Amino acid sequence: MTSSSLRNDNLIYFDNAATSFPKPPTVMEEMMKFMKSIGGNPSRSAHSMSVEASNIVFEARTKLAELFGVKNPMRVIMCFNATDALNLAIQGLLTEGDHAIMTSMEHNSVARPLKELEKRNKIKITVVKASNKGIVASEDIARAIIDTTKLVVVNHGSNVFGVVQQIEEIGKVCRTANVPLLVDASQTAGVIPIDVGSDNIDLLAFTGHKALGGPPGTGGLIISDNFDHSTLRPLRFGGTGSYSDKTYQPTFIPDMFESGTLNTVGIAGLLGGIDFLEKYGGIQKVYAHKKKLTKYFYNAARDNIRKIKFYIEPEICETGVVSFNIEGMEPSLVAQKLSDEYGIMARAGLHCAPMAHQTMGTFPRGTLRFSFGIFNTEKEIDRAVDALATISKG
Ligand SMILES: Cc1ncc(COP(=O)(O)O)c(C=O)c1O
Repeated sequence: MTSSSLRNDNLIYFDNAATSFPKPPTVMEEMMKFMKSIGGNPSRSAHSMSVEASNIVFEARTKLAELFGVKNPMRVIMCFNATDALNLAIQGLLTEGDHAIMTSMEHNSVARPLKELEKRNKIKITVVKASNKGIVASEDIARAIIDTTKLVVVNHGSNVFGVVQQIEEIGKVCRTANVPLLVDASQTAGVIPIDVGSDNIDLLAFTGHKALGGPPGTGGLIISDNFDHSTLRPLRFGGTGSYSDKTYQPTFIPDMFESGTLNTVGIAGLLGGIDFLEKYGGIQKVYAHKKKLTKYFYNAARDNIRKIKFYIEPEICETGVVSFNIEGMEPSLVAQKLSDEYGIMARAGLHCAPMAHQTMGTFPRGTLRFSFGIFNTEKEIDRAVDALATISKG
């Protein structure tokens, strides 16, 4: 299957960092199965359709717990995307007078909730700047920690440049200072192995609709086994199907953080995505495929497109996310031509990560980004390189 085979046309989809496409067939199958014959609301009733829905959700929690190295599946909090999970962690943890640290590679899904709290005069923020290769030094994080630091937030894989932070090292620094570490794994979940225990991560926000292959509306927050969940306040309050006699929110996980009906059909699809990844050969194979395509693109582009400019070397471009520009051309214009004239889907601009572009010197114009998925092929890259070569001459 390639990105065009499912649509039965000649389009090439290189925007997998935004959301992956196509979704594996198992995702559609599980979602259809859920809609056709399961359909119940989990944990709400004792009838068999509700129980079956609960079993699907529990299976998904169990698979996700295994994937991210947490022992108790109830520590997998189902959210609607990574942004939702990041908001739960950031707004749930920080209180007035706290200091928080983020890196200059953060997505707006981290920066905006933090800046909002700062704007309301609740917290102070330090931004730790990455190097001109997009890498954050753990010593710089250590230096930024002060007495009132209550949270360190780190982007694991950049959605702009594909660089990956040494999360284990940063985790050690946070553990030593006794400051919780929140990791934004939106771009790495399903690509780079993550173990919240050995990586010293307290909270991990992931998205289900990118490399895990699931549908939009899925994602979650992993609360590591040793992290005291009672220090986190829920974002939403309401019905959970548990302790219905009480008008107060339950205080146990996951119900405490999962008010309202879950995206059960999405969760069924996410389970299908994880199953597919296992059959595909696991995370290592996903990583190897993305790395292979990245190197192939760098080489072909450098050989054939005179005016192409990359911002990092392919060796540290890890997640199939490649940013570049054609010198002298607006990235948005090139993206438009790729879509309109060549049927190639790519994203241009700042990719919701203005600080990452400031760090790498590509602000405010931004870059053109190709983000490869497991269904992309070298043949598709050849077509894109030919297209870029022609565009760059015009
Ligand atoms: C690094 C990063 N963080 C957060 C997000 C937000 O993810 P979601 O769309 O699942 O909320 C994205 C999405 O592009 C991302 O790349």
